[in-house]
Amino acid sequence: MSAQLKEMPEIRQMLVTDLDEVIVIEKEVFLFPWTRGNFGDSISSRYHCYVLELGGHIFGYGVMTIGLDEAHLLTLSVTAGWQQEGWGEKLLQHFICLAKENHARSVFLEVRKSNLGAARLYERIGFTRIATRSGYYPAMGGCEDAIVMELTL
Ligand SMILES: CC(C)(COP(=O)(O)OP(=O)(O)OC[C@H]1O[C@@H](n2cnc3c(N)ncnc32)[C@H](O)[C@@H]1OP(=O)(O)O)[C@@H](O)C(=O)NCCC(=O)NCCS
Repeated sequence: MSAQLKEMPEIRQMLVTDLDEVIVIEKEVFLFPWTRGNFGDSISSRYHCYVLELGGHIFGYGVMTIGLDEAHLLTLSVTAGWQQEGWGEKLLQHFICLAKENHARSVFLEVRKSNLGAARLYERIGFTRIATRSGYYPAMGGCEDAIVMELTL
């Protein structure tokens, strides 16, 4: 019996041509989504922008900056139908490797106080809570605190 080749998802750099699909996911998973311009600017500013792709379709993405010895993870998303299958963690580990390769000493991120699922993932990987930014995020009928987290590399 011949072995069947099963296509595996890959992590690759985000291209401007990915943005139609990225924006659909962004609007699906966030109440206050980034705009196409935010992603376009991130690509043209040479931020570290990566997608999860399978069969020509994007199902997740993230954006990170690295400056001096600090990396900042600006956004991370996996589309609803692919969540809880380990892909968010794989993409996060990819960004952590990139930060190490670029000699960052820490990775920082902000997460909404109410986003318990994401915070649990970050803590499982070793991020710790270092501060709270009061009223940092827009929210329905007001604003919401951000928890600042750091992973020491
Ligand atoms: C956060 C996110 C990127 C995680 O990606 P994912 O592929 O679902 O995560 P993984 O499958 O790799 O890891 C799952 C772990 O994440 C945490 N987690 C993620 N979503 C969760 C949820 N809805 N409820 C509870 N835990 C959740 C848990 O720790 C879980 O591990 P466990 O099942 O062993 O408890 C994804 O859920 C997402 O895109 N959410 C919406 C956008 C968002 O909140 N992004 C983060 C902004 S800071």
